[in-house]
Amino acid sequence: MSEILHIGYGTQTGTAEELAFDIEKLFKDKGVSCQVFELDDISMTKLQEINKLMIVTSTTGDGEVPDNALTFWENLSGSTELDISNLKYGVLALGDSSHYDFCNAGKIIDEKLKELGANRILERQECDFDTEGSIEWSEKFLKSI
Ligand SMILES: Cc1cc2nc3c(=O)[nH]c(=O)nc-3n(C[C@H](O)[C@H](O)[C@H](O)COP(=O)(O)O)c2cc1C
Repeated sequence: MSEILHIGYGTQTGTAEELAFDIEKLFKDKGVSCQVFELDDISMTKLQEINKLMIVTSTTGDGEVPDNALTFWENLSGSTELDISNLKYGVLALGDSSHYDFCNAGKIIDEKLKELGANRILERQECDFDTEGSIEWSEKFLKSI
């Protein structure tokens, strides 16, 4: 079982990716080992092996999951039984409230992980348009995990 904190990002235009790497740097400066991944690089097998996961994802289109997280989402949403009861996670969702489905990608991933038995250690943070509040949320996440 890996003790590393995994940071998985879903992005369409780069904001969530940049934020994921900023958070990695912040945590590394505090002596915490992290690995940053595109969400599509996390298979369901890997999801069952890791135990600390922060998800940073935007929403694109009309409430859709970004392209580099679609395979992850398809696999996750199609799962009915995964052994992820050891997984502690939190979701940082980027969006824009002028769109109908505000932060929908973060919301559906968060709810599905919970439904499958993972442990949400901090309520989802929804950032409107920019990344305001994300660093404070990340610091709370780190304290909780
Ligand atoms: C074409 C387009 C569609 C978007 N659709 C949504 C949406 O349906 N819901 C939402 O909350 N935000 C939506 N957004 C806002 C983005 O999620 C937000 O700007 C985010 O910070 C972008 O992050 P990214 O660069 O990592 O993709 C959309 C943005 C664009 C450019």
